[in-house]
Amino acid sequence: MDTKLESEHSESDRLCMTRRSFLLAGASAIVLSSLPGVAGAVKLAARTYPSRKVMALRDLQVDQPVDFTYPPNNPLSTFFIVKLGVEAGGGIGPDKDIVAFSNLCSHMGGPLNGTYKAGHKAVGPCPLHLTTFDLTRHGMVISGHATESLPQARLEIVNGNIVATGVMGLIYGQHDNLA
Ligand code: FES
Repeated sequence: MDTKLESEHSESDRLCMTRRSFLLAGASAIVLSSLPGVAGAVKLAARTYPSRKVMALRDLQVDQPVDFTYPPNNPLSTFFIVKLGVEAGGGIGPDKDIVAFSNLCSHMGGPLNGTYKAGHKAVGPCPLHLTTFDLTRHGMVISGHATESLPQARLEIVNGNIVATGVMGLIYGQHDNLA
């Protein structure tokens, strides 16, 4: 084989392998992050915002969602915090089961307040177009029209209090979560 062709071929193989490796790495991350038990180990790529105390850890009961506004400078943006009773992606607390999500559906902003389903650890169906979100897997869409996960608040425990410190995802209707 011509030396020039050989070198082009091996360069193309190298690029192909690089692309393939890249895609496999990405696919593995997605699959891993969707597995129960592994999801909690995946770091949230959340944006950091001014922190706000949500409530005392001891006051949160299993399957009893509580609403709060976040980020602090946006009173129209409400989230709910819930202790699921099962480990969840991004979950905090001794059981890694405390998570918080936006009350605004990621599709067209339908209100998800009051749609928590304890039996499925999900919210929905959204009253507008019926999307349901999995709270154990970073708010991933289970069914319905939405294509984006539900924005998830990053939580920390500070001196026995649950504190929100950031958000993963764009809150519906915002071009910037702090706007
Ligand atoms: S606004 Fe919620 S599914 Fe469309």
